[in-house]
Amino acid sequence: MSALSKTDPTSYSNPTECLVEHIHLDLKINFDRHTLSGSAVLSIKKINPETDLILDTRDLTIFSIKNNESKEPLEYTLNEPDGCFGSKLTIQLPELEFFSMEVLIEYETKENCTALQWLPARLTKGKRHPYLYSQCQAIHCRSIIPLQDTPCVKCPFTAKVTAPSDLKVLMSALHEDINEVEGDPAWSEFNFRQKIPMPSCLMSIVCGDITYRDVGPRTRVWAEPELVEQAAWEFAETENMLQVAEELMGPYVWGQYDLVVLPPSFPFGGMENPCITFVTPTLIAGDRSLADVVAHEIAHSWTGNLVTNKNPNHFWLNEGNTMFFERKIDGVLRGGEKLRQFKSLTGWNELQTAVDSLGADNPYTRLVLDMKGVDPDDAFSSIPYEKGHALLFYLEQLLGGPEVFEPFLREYIKHFRFQSITTADWKEFLLEYFANEVKEGKLDEVDWDAWLYGLGMPPVKPHYDQSLGEDVDHLIKRWLECTNDEVDSFYTVDIVDFVPVQMMHFLDELRKKERLSQVKVQKMGEVYLLNSVKNFEVRWRWIRLAIYCQYKEIVEMALEFVAKIGRLHFIAPLYKDLYNWEFSRDRALKTFQETRDNMHYISVLSVERELELDSK
Ligand code: BES
Ligand code: ZN
Repeated sequence: MSALSKTDPTSYSNPTECLVEHIHLDLKINFDRHTLSGSAVLSIKKINPETDLILDTRDLTIFSIKNNESKEPLEYTLNEPDGCFGSKLTIQLPELEFFSMEVLIEYETKENCTALQWLPARLTKGKRHPYLYSQCQAIHCRSIIPLQDTPCVKCPFTAKVTAPSDLKVLMSALHEDINEVEGDPAWSEFNFRQKIPMPSCLMSIVCGDITYRDVGPRTRVWAEPELVEQAAWEFAETENMLQVAEELMGPYVWGQYDLVVLPPSFPFGGMENPCITFVTPTLIAGDRSLADVVAHEIAHSWTGNLVTNKNPNHFWLNEGNTMFFERKIDGVLRGGEKLRQFKSLTGWNELQTAVDSLGADNPYTRLVLDMKGVDPDDAFSSIPYEKGHALLFYLEQLLGGPEVFEPFLREYIKHFRFQSITTADWKEFLLEYFANEVKEGKLDEVDWDAWLYGLGMPPVKPHYDQSLGEDVDHLIKRWLECTNDEVDSFYTVDIVDFVPVQMMHFLDELRKKERLSQVKVQKMGEVYLLNSVKNFEVRWRWIRLAIYCQYKEIVEMALEFVAKIGRLHFIAPLYKDLYNWEFSRDRALKTFQETRDNMHYISVLSVERELELDSK
């Protein structure tokens, strides 16, 4: 096993000795071979004159490595691969009198590249053209570019991407010009520039038959033509969200904020790639009710993309802060402080569920993780999101509420923007900023060790305003207490005033109680129109509740859901539910076998785990 870096337990690179300061990519998209091929020019700065340049790679074919000015070859060694960390690439640098140089690497990705999903035309909406998209976070960028694949390195990049002329290419950058390849109009070159230094996990590319609608002065919504109108309507509030975010966090520095609605196999809800957030089509609910995911990705433009965790141990700094801002933005634009409080409470419940399912002694339940030798995809859970959010929510209360905490957050971002930081940096800044409050003893009760390094649930539960939960709890009680003969007392109007998060809470809580009878489940589906609900968050919870109650009629709908959707947050638990119920187990296995070739690599791995098919 090659030594991993001191600054990042998931990277081989040595940025404290030799730093990549700029990347230029020249890549061709080959749909026939499912590869990207071309070159990367890395501009490097040597900090230690004796050092080699060490890069991360995974499943790359390296053709040559040269000094970009002289075109002299450079000696290099590519180690044997080691699982998710890939192969360490060590490039010998000439004895330099000067400390900067450009290294040119000619290479090609392989078909099994973990960052890319190549979709055949039949898996797109239009069914006419193939589609390609990337997902680099956490450590998949090394499977498309040889680089220092660690968030402690941030660099700007430029790119020229050659692709079929009937398709469009987007990257996590501003678009420059598009030119037809001279003498070959079937191919076009798309040029990009990202001036702001960004970590490798935010590198991204999409190529497909996509088009856009402008929905604001700096926002285009991109999607396949069949979906673009719907998508543009769904995300029409993006500019409002950006404005609220700017009030909370300071100026938006990335220029454009576009969204691209990917095909349903995309394994996440959203991904904050700079200038072009990626989202799952399951956000299209027809009523804008799931746009809080967009608020989340917008918030990352500051927390994560400007102030970045130094390595995956401190991932909570990205996601905990982002959850906190997501709920602030949502509160301002939708249901005020009451809604923020209630969503925060459902976040606490989600944290409890995650701790229960991982086991309270699981090291992944810690806020600050120890990622040495760990595949970040294996450690992924809602813990950093919700434990991180709970800590910030708790601190806000102790320190005197939003009026004092929001200015602190703005300062925090201003202070650390363009940097990559650790939990210690965050804590030191907080204690310094609130020196007076600390003197007054306002933080005396905080058990820092337990919050940051403790296993399981946090040591204290913050106070949450639960008023939005009252009607829901009342309705839950009615369903639990009534007899089968009394189900006619339920009507559609029971839930007519519920906002989606109340409906979600209703279904989540019922799944923690004793099973409802078949008569009740059937009635609930009918009166609340749950079998045709378009909101995927509600639909998913309804299916899970019905499975929990062993309502056989739901299995068809559940299988159709997991066959079509790739979003992990939905399908991993749903596959697990189906697998744990003997009645549906074989059909779940069969559906997975039939659809796995259409699924994203990350989804396949985690569903395999749920279905006990993994070899690990
Ligand atoms: N950056 C994450 C997605 C991610 C994290 C991908 C780690 C790979 C590794 C993104 O911002 C995110 O958190 N997405 C959530 C949405 C959200 C509203 C909680 C998701 O996809 O569910
Ligand atoms: Zn996030």
